[in-house]
Amino acid sequence: MSLSALLGVIALAGAAQAQVVTRKPYIQQGSPTSAVVAWRTLPASESVVRYGLDPGRLDQIVAAPEPVIHHEVRLQGLEPDTRYFYSVGTRQRALAGGDTEHSLRTAPLPGARRRLRIWAVGDSGTGGEAQRAVRDAMLSHVGDEKPDVFIHLGDMAYRSGESLEFEFRFFDVYAPILRNTVVWPTLGNHEGRSSSASAQRGPYFDGFALPTRGECGGVASGTEAYYSFDFGNVHFIVLDSTGSPRGPEGEMLRWLRRDLAGSSADWMIAFWHHPPYSKGSHDSDRERELVEMRQSATPILEAAGVDLVLGGHSHAYERSFLIRRAAGARLEAEILDGGDGRVEGDGAYRKARGASGAVYVVAGHGGAPVSLKGHHPLMRFVEAKNGSCLIDVEGDALTLTNLRADGQITDRFTILKGAAEAPRSPSGGDPPGESADPVAPVVVRPGALIQAPGGAEAEGGCGCALAGGAQGGAAPWAVGLGLAAVGWRRRRRAIRP
Ligand SMILES: [Fe+2]
Repeated sequence: MSLSALLGVIALAGAAQAQVVTRKPYIQQGSPTSAVVAWRTLPASESVVRYGLDPGRLDQIVAAPEPVIHHEVRLQGLEPDTRYFYSVGTRQRALAGGDTEHSLRTAPLPGARRRLRIWAVGDSGTGGEAQRAVRDAMLSHVGDEKPDVFIHLGDMAYRSGESLEFEFRFFDVYAPILRNTVVWPTLGNHEGRSSSASAQRGPYFDGFALPTRGECGGVASGTEAYYSFDFGNVHFIVLDSTGSPRGPEGEMLRWLRRDLAGSSADWMIAFWHHPPYSKGSHDSDRERELVEMRQSATPILEAAGVDLVLGGHSHAYERSFLIRRAAGARLEAEILDGGDGRVEGDGAYRKARGASGAVYVVAGHGGAPVSLKGHHPLMRFVEAKNGSCLIDVEGDALTLTNLRADGQITDRFTILKGAAEAPRSPSGGDPPGESADPVAPVVVRPGALIQAPGGAEAEGGCGCALAGGAQGGAAPWAVGLGLAAVGWRRRRRAIRP
């Protein structure tokens, strides 16, 4: 719906006092036994959700009589891992739902090892064709195996995260997904222009109903700016690199330590907006938020054994080797496995339970124009093409797939815990052996130490190439074929946050 069309609808609604849904239904705070259904109307009205196990028989009702334009209704006492159908509206009539498309599936119990799928998108908020192509490529790719969890890495409503920008560049574009899949966002710098993390105010905080009291697992954060939740055997940690203090003794990272100490999940996935490692459209050596999150947050996460760290902000797809000790005063990273992580390539990455070692992914390619400044030496694969990531978790196996807007799979890796067997191919996609991979193989010996951010310059030429028309070409210090085996000449450069 265009802005002029919306204004027309609003005018008509006002004249006739008819109820109009101005923000279609979306699901928040999914837990094994509860969920929040949200939507907006004009004019203000009561809030009524009818729900049930059959779309033709919505025999349960939750109602709040106070007239509001932003509606949030919590459904409680639900069965775990169960799909419910719903409608929203007033006691007189449903305004949306009551069909097979409007449903929510409650989360599995914490620790349940059922197969689950996560969709990760960053920097999508243009409302343009690229964003829609990324969305459609995902929907086409997954078919009936739709994501259980939608995580957004920030910058979902350019330019300033205002309410109407949210409407047309987030809620409208993703409405077919949001009405049946819980979305878990983190605050991007563009949303931060109009929303305050410290005050918990603005369109971002008005629109999202995020857990503050550990409602969905994890330790209560006391704020919607950062939080955690469980879904099956995965513990998700959502940090705020935009508006909350990033210092190691700040409240956010103090909470992070408590939260990590309280989780025994098989997998831990952390995400926030500003990535710790990137040479995409932003440089993690030179920008305060990226440097500070790398220095402050990643040592805590790695010590707790976090497996996957996702960020956006940099408008590209970049993903690292399996690395650890990738932070600290000397900013050195140890590459634990210098292979491609593909089951049918060099083999999946393996790590022991609780051990340090993570893959870092920048997924800022969800819709905004993409670019690369270079090839960060910790990255196994980089690409300047719009797309999104699908993460499939099945027991002790986690597989991430990069799916371009044109439907092509260009990268995939798997992490296995302990002695787990490699999984069968994630459904809805090509087997790993058939994945397109336009980047020349990179070989780095395990245990290689790399002076990653801002300091490394390789001797000799570079055997790697940037995929997808990347801007700028490969940096002279980019990791090349066998480069780590022949050594590095290190040139340190001070990082000034
Ligand atoms: Fe950003």
